[in-house]
Amino acid sequence: MNGTTGRTTRAFYPGSFDPIHLGHVDVIEQAHELFGDVVVAVLFNFAKDTSLFDVDVRVDLVRTATAHLPGVVVQSHSGLAVDAAAAADADFVVKGLRTPGDFEIEQQMAQMNHSVTGIRTVYVPASPPLAFVSSRFVREIAQYGGDVAHLVPSAVADALADRFGGGAATDGAGA
Ligand code: PNS
Repeated sequence: MNGTTGRTTRAFYPGSFDPIHLGHVDVIEQAHELFGDVVVAVLFNFAKDTSLFDVDVRVDLVRTATAHLPGVVVQSHSGLAVDAAAAADADFVVKGLRTPGDFEIEQQMAQMNHSVTGIRTVYVPASPPLAFVSSRFVREIAQYGGDVAHLVPSAVADALADRFGGGAATDGAGA
């Protein structure tokens, strides 16, 4: 609860989630534990859609992966993350940090986003056993028939198996 207003604090967690992996789930669980009310936003770009999964599929997979967390709402948005955060009436943005490289990218986005609308960004550290997981490498390994079932929610493992079958490599999404 927010001590001044009595209102629950709402965190906004934007990402591509193409697809959601266990590192994302860990960040959402941490944000849920810390703040209670979390809006997870699957962001997409009409003009440049190189994603592996359609946005509706990505939203369904995020919903399934977070069904055990009451207070977590999953939405999709196009356009700016700050506008989506405002539309969701969020108090701040939450991001996960895995590596120093993440920090450099996220810090620039956080400062840009703050300069545009004043919204703040809070970081949560990736849990060490998951700090190497990325959607990009999940896609790439699955595409070439590698096993990523231990890195993703079971619904995502099923969706990847449906997409790539017995492991035949195809031209999938971009990085
Ligand atoms: O999961 P990703 O790909 O690391 O997520 C990046 C994402 C979608 C959060 C970021 O690219 C983003 O916020 N895109 C929306 C467009 C936007 O707000 N751009 C200005 C960033 S300062």
